[in-house]
Amino acid sequence: MHYGHGGIECVFEMGMTMAERSLSRLLCAIAALCVVALAMEGAALADAPAQARGAVIYRQRCQVCHAGPEQSGPMGPGLNGVVGRKAGSTGYAYSAALKRSELTWSKANLDSFLSGPDKLVPGTRMVVAMPDAKQRGDLVEYLASLR
Ligand code: HEC
Repeated sequence: MHYGHGGIECVFEMGMTMAERSLSRLLCAIAALCVVALAMEGAALADAPAQARGAVIYRQRCQVCHAGPEQSGPMGPGLNGVVGRKAGSTGYAYSAALKRSELTWSKANLDSFLSGPDKLVPGTRMVVAMPDAKQRGDLVEYLASLR
């Protein structure tokens, strides 16, 4: 007899008693749940390395001006919740250029901003560019995780 579940298939011997069968069925269901749980953990981890790499880049390249991600420093605005936020909208003393930009930050335009801030927003005082697309992608994943 075959009894399948979440990619796992259990085969029961015909000679099994009812009690043996229900025990096997229970073990089979538990094994199937383990497979599903591992798959879900894998999916969660798929994003985590990008964010973790992004966090390291942030500390190395951004934190000097943006203080911690939570609070604005004297040299740059805080970046918590930046994805979905209007550009130049915290209490920080922004350039007129950024305030006028009418951008709402998304992963896509952050990627473009970080590849060359002055190209997307001519006249911005944010001058640090990240030419490496892979590093930029990791950094944007990290920024998007800051709530
Ligand atoms: C040399 C200091 C400095 C560094 C280093 C720096 N920034 Fe900035 N950043 C600024 C300043 C100043 C502004 C405000 C720009 C303006 O007003 O035009 C800004 C603005 C921003 C904004 C727009 C925020 C808003 O509220 O609209 C983002 C996003 C940003 N920076 C991301 C980054 C990231 C990511 C890094 C690391 C790669 C980084 N910055 C490194 C100084 C810096």
